[in-house]
Amino acid sequence: MSATGGANAAGAGNTAGPDRAAGAAGGGHPAGEATRFDASYAATPPWDIDEAQPAFLALAQSGQIRGRVLDIGCGTGEHALMAADFGLAAVGIDAAPTAIAKAEVKAHDRGLRVQFVVGNALDLTSFTDPLGQFDTVLDCGVYHVFDDDERPRYVQSLAELIRTGGRYFMLCFNEHQSGDWGPRRITQAEIRASFSHGWRVDSIERSRLVVTFQPDGVDAWLAAVTRT
Ligand SMILES: C[S@@+](CC[C@H](N)C(=O)[O-])C[C@H]1O[C@@H](n2cnc3c(N)ncnc32)[C@H](O)[C@@H]1O
Repeated sequence: MSATGGANAAGAGNTAGPDRAAGAAGGGHPAGEATRFDASYAATPPWDIDEAQPAFLALAQSGQIRGRVLDIGCGTGEHALMAADFGLAAVGIDAAPTAIAKAEVKAHDRGLRVQFVVGNALDLTSFTDPLGQFDTVLDCGVYHVFDDDERPRYVQSLAELIRTGGRYFMLCFNEHQSGDWGPRRITQAEIRASFSHGWRVDSIERSRLVVTFQPDGVDAWLAAVTRT
């Protein structure tokens, strides 16, 4: 990660106990899923590359990641940490407490200030201490986790979190990736359908998602969407 920003605290307090408790108690999250993800963080899961995805780093370097930033389904926090490193106020949220604990250690070790919260991305309005609105939301590998029923709820959550004119950047497995392992493959049409009302799909580009077990990563879509 390029160190351009240094520690930054603007708008992002440190993780507070009550935030975590409120998020965890936020409800609505399928407990089995949360447990499954949390268990994967006992070791290093295949998506946890210990640095920002190159596709998101390129967005940051080109100035497209702006304002108050939310890394949704942040895992161990690399993209929230990247945003903080670029001098932006950053929040990371994940349903997996073990991932959030690791993210907090990284923030401390790197001297970066990020608010990390345990919570359900499908139900972000139930926080006692609301997260507020964001100018940029980063989603690496989260949209493709949700099934057909959950996806509209997720997009509704995003709509509440992203201010008008704010942007959502998303990396997901695409349908060109062979094999039946890992998350579901997403088509461009599915992305466009999810964001057909109240959003403008600015671009969907072929990209790569770096993983620990495959040097050239996996075939991915990088979507850029604006809240209208
Ligand atoms: C494939 S991992 C990606 C993690 C991280 N974005 C990264 O790039 O390393 C998907 C993440 O989404 C989180 N997640 C899944 N469902 C969630 C939900 N309903 N609310 C919050 N986080 C969720 C998982 O705990 C997991 O950390």
